[in-house]
Parts: sequence; structure tokens; C-alpha cells
Amino acid sequence: MTRHAHAWTQGTEIEPSLYAADLARLGEQVEELLDAGVRVFHFDVGDGHFVEPITIGPVVLRAIAGLVHARDAVLDCHLMVENPERHIPQIAEAGGDGVTFHYEATDDPERVAELARGQGLCAGLAFNPGTAVADAARAGAPFDLVLCMSIWPGYSGQELLPESYERIADLRDSLPDDVAVQVDGGVTAENVAAIREAGANLIVAGSSVFAADDPPAAYRALARSVA
Ligand code: DX5
Ligand code: ZN
Repeated sequence: MTRHAHAWTQGTEIEPSLYAADLARLGEQVEELLDAGVRVFHFDVGDGHFVEPITIGPVVLRAIAGLVHARDAVLDCHLMVENPERHIPQIAEAGGDGVTFHYEATDDPERVAELARGQGLCAGLAFNPGTAVADAARAGAPFDLVLCMSIWPGYSGQELLPESYERIADLRDSLPDDVAVQVDGGVTAENVAAIREAGANLIVAGSSVFAADDPPAAYRALARSVA
């Protein structure tokens, strides 16, 4: 499998998680975050099997893809689903730019990554707090990014698990330099600098952006903390 280090995975980014947005005002919130400088949006697909909730999917992705791409931003899709291979073509067709599926949801991560890349998507491998970092790092070496979950996936608004800092640092040490380290879950204005310091460069933020009174200001403050 050949990795083609997509430019957006290589920088330091705060990725607002649209699962936590006010979905009645989704387009408006996307626009104001684009104005604030967001380049990468995180889009959580949950199937009600791999995780308890059914979240948002290709229909909603398609509705915002034009808006996001018109401003040269990208949609980074986190598949919290069983059988990720069944959903990848729809994510590509709906306008996803990257797809990250779970180590725990497949027996053959490389085959699924090939499928994603065949659809023109950047490929990421996520792993849960119960999975050994060494296992995820071994499987994730040929990917564009590896996502270290800092909560159990499913819901926004949980607290970051304290062992995450060490797991992020281990992951960073175990992966080739050009594989991005992403963190998702419980990121706040208080812990974001320590998460960056531990070695993450793609940092997902759901409620710390969208539960704020002023989401663009919350995004800018997080971005400043890791600049
Ligand atoms: C939940 C999702 C996350 C979620 C993060 O499992 O994968 O992306 O939206 O939300 P916060 O930042 O509130 O933990
Ligand atoms: Zn996520």
C-alpha cells in the first residue's frame, strides 16, 4: 500500500466535530467556522452497532460538502461502524476527503485502506482506549493518519481519559514521521496544549467548540493554544 501524505494531514489542525454542532443551523455554523479559519472538519458516522448511537451520515455530508470544498477546506470522516467497507463508497460519493475506520471493526485494515484510496480518499485507522497502542501502531504504519481515541467512542461531551497523554506519546514514537497522529474526545481549552505537546497534530474538538457561546471564538482560542 502506498501512502500519499495528503497535505491536510501534515499540519497542526483543530478539527471541529460537526456531530456536536447545532444541526438545525449546520450550514451557518460551517460558514462561520470557515470564516474563522477552519481547514478540516471532523464528521462522525455512527451506525448504532459499533457504537450505540446512530449519528449523521452521507446524506448530511452531501448537504455541506459543496460549502466546505468551495473554501478549500476538507471533510475528515470518522466511521464508528461495523463493516466499514460497506460505507466507504457512499462517503466518497457524498464528498468526503478522508475516511478513518476502526481497528476493532475489521480483520484486514490494509484491504479496507486500499478500498478507501481507490475511491480517492485519504485513509485513517482509529483505535479505542482498550486497544494496545503497539497493535494500532503496527497496523497503522501504512496509513495517512492514526486516531487515538481519548474517550470511548459514541458520544460528544465526555471527559478525556487521563492515560491518553501517554498513549499519544507512545503512538507518536511508534509511527513513521509522516503518519499523522489524531486525537478525538474530551479536548478542551485547558488540555489542548498538553495534547499537542504529547505528539498529536490533528486534534478534534466537539463540545469545546459548539457548546461555547461563540463557536468561532472558541475555535480560534484552541487554534492559538497549539500554534
Ligand atoms: C464521539 C466522536 C467525537 C465527538 C467528540 O465518539 O468520535 O468526534 O464528537 O466530542 P467531544 O470533543 O465533545 O468529546
Ligand atoms: Zn470522532
